[in-house]
Amino acid sequence: FSLKDYNTFGIDVSAKAFVSVSSLEELKEVLQQVYAHELFILGGGSNILLLKNIDQTILHINLKGKALEREDENYAYVRAHAGENWHEFVRWCIAHNFGGLENLSLIPGNVGTSPIQNIGAYGVELKDSFVSCEAIHKQTLQTKTFTKAECDFGYRNSTFKNENKDKYIITSVLFRLTKKEHSLHTGYGAILAELEKENIDTPSIKDISNAVISIRQSKLPNPKELGNSGSFFKNPIVDKTAFAKLKEKFPEIPSYTVSENEIKIPAGWLIEKAGFKGYRREDAGVHENQALVLVNYGNATGKDIYKLAQEIQKKIWNVFEIRLEMEVNVIS
Ligand code: EPU
Repeated sequence: FSLKDYNTFGIDVSAKAFVSVSSLEELKEVLQQVYAHELFILGGGSNILLLKNIDQTILHINLKGKALEREDENYAYVRAHAGENWHEFVRWCIAHNFGGLENLSLIPGNVGTSPIQNIGAYGVELKDSFVSCEAIHKQTLQTKTFTKAECDFGYRNSTFKNENKDKYIITSVLFRLTKKEHSLHTGYGAILAELEKENIDTPSIKDISNAVISIRQSKLPNPKELGNSGSFFKNPIVDKTAFAKLKEKFPEIPSYTVSENEIKIPAGWLIEKAGFKGYRREDAGVHENQALVLVNYGNATGKDIYKLAQEIQKKIWNVFEIRLEMEVNVIS
């Protein structure tokens, strides 16, 4: 079974077998019949780099459905099932005037994998609207509700990448969204510029979504046209002293303050500065408009992309003494 169409990098590896489940009953049945270690859970395939053939059965989570579960005066509590496409869900929320996810428009992937790395963009993170998620333990088949605190969200991080890595299958997510007083996040420079361009002074959540869509489309390659997994690396966080030293050498270095002693540096800037923007090694390359994104020009293997990533990591270490961490899940 070829996985080419099931990972946004478009890497052509095979899997032993493929099974798709569209209800909780079907999911439980599969978990009863197949040992957990023989299953490989696949959501939208938008954050993985496959280095080799998968000697397991692919379990494709195709649980669909999104609905208003309850509401109060100010908030709508909306549940979306794991197999819902993230962006379609965001647009559905906007169509119902439910606010909070508009800055996360056009992020590839599905609802079920969004909590794993606490997806984020343009000043907003999933955790800002997240209430809880339902999950099934792969071995005991018990269902568990993870509260926001239990998810232990951080920058591109959660319990599902740490203590609870590979233990659960997330089946649905509950969000708390605004109904009346939307809190708009337009502080991100590019959004303001985009709204100004359109002459919008009092933006709606739909205007913000549209602005985000047009920014993303101008910088980020569409995985349907050019294989990629969005940001390949995390933006590194350095301490104040290290940053001061960098700033001396590179006065123009962009940065965001994370905490009193921590500063985040855009990996895209480091990679561009190191000379990799638009770089290509056979079919593996660094995107020409956004150096944080690695791309597959057609026939790159997972290993080709991985080798390029390692080359970048090494150079960034040599030039800046910064260790770049991969954001994408590497399956080796
Ligand atoms: N930059 C460069 N060269 C580049 C790319 C970026 O100099 O090739 C500089 C920009 O000029 C800017 C800074 O880096 O000063 C930040 O760039 P940008 O606003 O494009 O954001 P980012 O840090 O590159 C992060 C997320 C994105 C998210 C954007 C917008 C991470 C790892 N990535 O990228 O997430 O969309 O912010 O909020 O945090 C993703 O995870 O797939 C993703 C696209």
